[in-house]
Amino acid sequence: MTNVAEAQLDQAAIGAAARALEAGRLVAFPTETVYGLGADAENPQAVAAIYAAKGRPQDHPVIVHLAPDAPLDYWATDIPREAQALAEAFWPGPLTMILRRAPNIPDAVSGGQDTVGLRCPSHPVAIALLRAFKGGKGGVAAPSANKFGAVSPTLAQHVRDEFGADGSVAMVLDGGASQVGIESTIVDLSRLATHGPVLLRPGHISAEAIAAVIDQLPSSPDAAAPRASGTLESHYAPHTPVAMQDGAQLRQTLSELAAKGRKVALIHYSGMPPTHAAQLLPATPDGFAHALYAALRAMDGKKADVILVEAPPQGGDWLGVNDRLRRAAHGSTGIVHGLLNGDVDPAA
Ligand code: TXA
Ligand code: MG
Repeated sequence: MTNVAEAQLDQAAIGAAARALEAGRLVAFPTETVYGLGADAENPQAVAAIYAAKGRPQDHPVIVHLAPDAPLDYWATDIPREAQALAEAFWPGPLTMILRRAPNIPDAVSGGQDTVGLRCPSHPVAIALLRAFKGGKGGVAAPSANKFGAVSPTLAQHVRDEFGADGSVAMVLDGGASQVGIESTIVDLSRLATHGPVLLRPGHISAEAIAAVIDQLPSSPDAAAPRASGTLESHYAPHTPVAMQDGAQLRQTLSELAAKGRKVALIHYSGMPPTHAAQLLPATPDGFAHALYAALRAMDGKKADVILVEAPPQGGDWLGVNDRLRRAAHGSTGIVHGLLNGDVDPAA
């Protein structure tokens, strides 16, 4: 993973951001996955301000971001050795672990659940901020820095576009484009003894990579698994309807929609005929994930009738990307059929 150049570490800005967090304000900061909207995890009013700014329900837990080498046992209790092993293997990095919450940690960060989500991000600006905040002993509660249900930001400008006007965010630290581009993998270890590890959200770190460290393959969530808002079916959605089709079908749909005068914004990774708007993404899971959210935002701005996405392959490394695309397309079922058969008004 390439790191942001040392020159981008503006110590004065990082110091000011840390003081703002300590004063209970909200600060948006870059991570290697997506930008986060941070608050002091031990200040329930500051955490409440995140929910208000995002328009997010109060009972949704947020991830607590920790500096490298922060003691896990300040935040969590009954920590299994598997958690220590995963932290050693993948932190700093795009893995969030759900553990049993320590009694001293306010339940505001976990939406009233008895667990806490912990992660140490690898972006150098995030690490510098976490080290400056409360002398590296604090935790920064941070969901993705977008309005509830919207596409996560991978650039500082995305955050400014969404929160710039409303005054709820004290500062936006700019650390360039998020390298990974989709949110962290979430693994639940809070019920390890009874349920084993559970993969709550797929991401860059695969279930297989986790299994290679702890000798247990994380399973899919059961009904009693801790709630994760990123697992709502309709998450990560642009305003324009989204539909996914594989390459051959997509080519056909493009010509049919063109014949009907429909405007298509296309996200693809192989050769396609020209359309109203298009963005070509790399044909690798990492490259596609890195560029996906910025592409969704850009195509959302094209006043198209539909965003058509060339469905990626189904393999394990594509799991995170397919998960996010499925959610983006949820709620748009039947859009292509509707556009072809005239039951949907063209975009104004
Ligand atoms: O990559 C990421 O994880 C980014 C960056 C900023 O670190 N953050 C992020 O946060 O995606 P957010 O709030 O958009 O998604 C966090 C997910 C949610 O689905 C939330 O429900 C889940 O983590 N989560 C957090 N704490 C939890 C807990 N105690 N139990 C279950 N799920 C939890
Ligand atoms: Mg989010």
